[in-house]
Amino acid sequence: MELTEALRTTGAVRRFTSEPVDDATLAAILDTARFAPSGGNRQPWRVAVVRDSATRRTIADLTGPVWDEYVTASREGQVPFNVVDYEPPDTVEPGAPNELLAHIEDVPVVLVVAADLSQVAMMDVVLRRPTVVGGASVYPFCWSILLAARAHGLGGVMTTLTSRVEPQVRDVLGLPPTWALVATIFLGVPAHQPTKLRRDEISGFVTLDRFDGPAFAAEAP
Ligand SMILES: Cc1cc2nc3c(=O)[nH]c(=O)nc-3n(C[C@H](O)[C@H](O)[C@H](O)COP(=O)(O)O)c2cc1C
Repeated sequence: MELTEALRTTGAVRRFTSEPVDDATLAAILDTARFAPSGGNRQPWRVAVVRDSATRRTIADLTGPVWDEYVTASREGQVPFNVVDYEPPDTVEPGAPNELLAHIEDVPVVLVVAADLSQVAMMDVVLRRPTVVGGASVYPFCWSILLAARAHGLGGVMTTLTSRVEPQVRDVLGLPPTWALVATIFLGVPAHQPTKLRRDEISGFVTLDRFDGPAFAAEAP
């Protein structure tokens, strides 16, 4: 598939057929994704291919309450877990439907991506706000996994809910104390591949010279 086409049409896939993904295909995907950029080319990503059903179930069970809070807060009109003005709901309704968590044992591929923090130059960590730059050394790798999967006719989604319960999943995943849980990535043959993606126009987020400058007026041909 042509690169621009792939970039414009790779939507999140959360439902898969029962068709398995063989190890050679998964290895090929990871072997392509490893060319992703990272700060200082330190490649801090680490990947666990989680096959064990009990481990998957533990991940899902620990993540469920995070999803419930996400859904409740969204219903209240909040951006859940944002660090500017988020207020945890007084009560969280349990059991919000989540196909991935409900059927995690059946998802063809479950990858947990971690970052070895000893290998990440976290440029903004001295600021009085949570870091965002640290993630930049691992999320391009995650996105490359999803794009490489697409090239193999697969689909998937990157999820981050489980990072909220990182301390609880640390033991079950054997995550060393200095590694952070970056994402859980689900892959498989899509039950349906969304290709018409809803995204803001560039006029909505690009300005000239300064963020309070005039809109960048050019239009894509
Ligand atoms: C950093 C990040 C975190 C995400 N976390 C989750 C998640 O926890 N659960 C989930 O189902 N999807 C998650 N997604 C997928 C987004 O919901 C999805 O990319 C977005 O809604 C666009 O969907 P579309 O590609 O179908 O248009 C995440 C995506 C990113 C990039």
